[in-house]
Amino acid sequence: MRLDRFLSECAVASRSESKKAVRRGEVFVNGLAAKAADMAIDPEGDSVTYRGSAVIYRRYTYIMLNKPDGVVSATDDKRERTVLDLLPAELRKKELFPCGRLDKNTLGLMLITDNGELAHKLLSPKNHVEKKYRFRSKFPVKEEDAERFRVGVTLDDGYVTKPAEIELLGDGDEGIITLHEGKYHQIKRMLDSLGNKITYLERVSFANLTLDRSLERGEWRYLTDAEKDELEKIADIKAVSE
Ligand code: URA
Repeated sequence: MRLDRFLSECAVASRSESKKAVRRGEVFVNGLAAKAADMAIDPEGDSVTYRGSAVIYRRYTYIMLNKPDGVVSATDDKRERTVLDLLPAELRKKELFPCGRLDKNTLGLMLITDNGELAHKLLSPKNHVEKKYRFRSKFPVKEEDAERFRVGVTLDDGYVTKPAEIELLGDGDEGIITLHEGKYHQIKRMLDSLGNKITYLERVSFANLTLDRSLERGEWRYLTDAEKDELEKIADIKAVSE
């Protein structure tokens, strides 16, 4: 792979910035100053430093975003701001997409990646990957409603949801809902079916990932290696059981 492409794929510098940095002697490959931005390097085997810092090659990019209200979880949209619009220009050049969907007014954990195979495995309805949502509702959820969550709720289109869990907090008008599937507007429709209404919804976990509370709404960070390894492991285990 060309050195300038490598630096831009690692979101370190654009290709033109890379060229300038090479000319200024700020890029080293295996301890030697790089002579040309178009030199070929082995992203997995060579060690590259940019302005004194090691550049870690990421074959795939994995980002945790704390989704704010009012942005849509799509790659592009003619009228609305998307979750990708919250990322810097360098990252927007990659083929990133949100792994799954949250409604425009749902907040919280959104995984963004360019690993289509992993996303497919994590989102496959067969795989029952766990998602947890913090909610508030208009009325307290009754104990018998919680039991209906465990058994399955019949939605407006006749679909019966897979067993889900609901943990009630406070006066019962807030809590945590755990789903193992992801139908369109699922939680809102489940509460509607019970004659109640969601007034606040935030995803707090997805598979092994827990929303990082140090991220303000709209902020993002790369997954740590440990998070990424565990996520890849979960996707593979699920794929084997498919
Ligand atoms: N359920 C919903 O109703 N909306 C979401 O965004 C996620 C789950």
